[in-house]
This record gives sequence, C-alpha cells and structure tokens, in this order.
Amino acid sequence: MDRDIRNIVILTGAGISAESGLATFRGPDGLWEGHRVEDVCTPVALARNPALVHRFYDERRAKLGGVKPNPAHEALAALDAAWPGELLLVTQNVDDLHERAGAKRLIHMHGELRSALCAACGKAVSWTASLPPETACTGCGKSRLRPDIVFFGEMPYEMDAIDDAIRRADLFVSIGTSGAVYPAAGFVQTARHVGARTLELNLDPSAGSFYFDESRMGPASVLVPQLVRELLA
Ligand code: OAD
Ligand code: ZN
Repeated sequence: MDRDIRNIVILTGAGISAESGLATFRGPDGLWEGHRVEDVCTPVALARNPALVHRFYDERRAKLGGVKPNPAHEALAALDAAWPGELLLVTQNVDDLHERAGAKRLIHMHGELRSALCAACGKAVSWTASLPPETACTGCGKSRLRPDIVFFGEMPYEMDAIDDAIRRADLFVSIGTSGAVYPAAGFVQTARHVGARTLELNLDPSAGSFYFDESRMGPASVLVPQLVRELLA
C-alpha cells in the first residue's frame, strides 16, 4: 500500500457483520415477514403502524446479544488503535460490533439499535431491552420514545464531520455495502473529487463499483485483515 497515505476514511455496511450472523438488508434473506426494508424503515410506517416498526427493531436489538465481532471488526479496531494519522470509521450499521471490537474513532451515521430517541425532545438514551411504542422519555416525560434509527427520508447523523474527513482523506475504503443507499453511496465520489485513492471490499460488485480505483471481491473476514496488514506493514 502507498507510503504517503496519512488520512483514512472507512465506510462499512451490513456485509461486514454478515459473518457474525446478522442478516444483510438486500440479500436473499433481506425480507422481514414479507416487508421490504424500505417499507418498514420510514417515518410514514412509524406513524401508521408503530407496533410493526418497533417490533422490527426489537427483534434486531435482541439478536445483538447472541452475536460477536468477527475478524473484520477486530482488524479495523486494531487499525484504529495503531494508525498514527487521521482515521474515521463511518458505519451504516446499527449493530454495535465495531465498538465491541474496540473501535474508537467511529460514527454511526444511521443510528444505533441500542439507543432510543425521544421524538418530542430529541434526547437519546442507551436502550438494551425491547422498546414498546409510547414508552415515556426520561427527559421530558412524553410517551414518544422511538428506535434511534435514521429512517429513509431522514438526515443521517454527523454528515458535516464525515464530509470534512473525506475531504482530507488520502484513502477511502468501502466495505460490505451494496451502494444502494445515499448519501453513503456518494462518499466515493467526494473521495475521488479530492484525489483520494478509493478501494472497495465486498462479496459482489456493488452498485457503484466502477467509481473505485480498485475492487477486491471476497468475504470481509479475509479481505479486511489482509488490508489492515498491508496498511500497518
Ligand atoms: P445491503 O444489504 O444493501 O448490502 C450488503 C452488501 O454486503 C452486499 O453488497 C453484499 O454483497 C455484501 N456482503 C454480504 N456478505 C458479505 C461478506 N461476508 N463480506 C463482504 N461483503 C459481504 O447493506 P447496506 O449496504 O449496509 O439503513 O445497506 C445500506 C442501508 O440500507 C443500511 O444501513 C440500512 C438499509 O436500509 C438503515 O438502517 C437506515
Ligand atoms: Zn423527551
């Protein structure tokens, strides 16, 4: 790997957690009780059928207890600990496997399963149990707690910080994401625009594969530790 790489931004998606046993969104098992993810993860769905949307996320939150980080999460945490330059790990995942592996420089741009957000006052609280609709907020007392997930049509978290990091990056890496969901799918174009080297690691070519300088196809548990070895060599 290039000697003059100093600043790195790494985007991860559901593919990095697949080998830990968490289903991806658009794979063969991507449907949930016959619903497409795009039909459950929306503000309209939450307003019309809160029981369904809360149950969808309750099931996902409950699954976290039975899974653990895999070698890809562990390798990225090791890179975070050892990398002397700037590094930002941006995940679209709402699981907590990056932080359980030990990653520190991490942004959850699509929210977190183990967090509840008050739709009335905006306060977020750590949440590990199930979250029935109309649970009261400990801040304002209104019964408006919802999953702390960025739904389709809502603004992802920390976009300014992410954009700043990509504009300073020498290397942009995308891991385990289908490239179907914006704005994350557009990060590679910003990275190219500022002259960063762009690398994709994925099981299959993603929707935006042609934007990357290099695409490596294979399981994240193999490709990510290999990349981290190259970077730290
Ligand atoms: P997808 O399910 O769309 O894509 C997962 C990608 O991972 C696919 O391209 C697979 O080929 C790849 N993949 C599967 N197993 C892999 C493995 N073992 N190693 C490497 N790659 C593998 O998931 P995302 O792109 O993350 O949003 O989806 C983006 C967003 O759509 C999600 O964050 C979610 C969803 O709606 C929210 O929850 C707000
Ligand atoms: Zn509140």
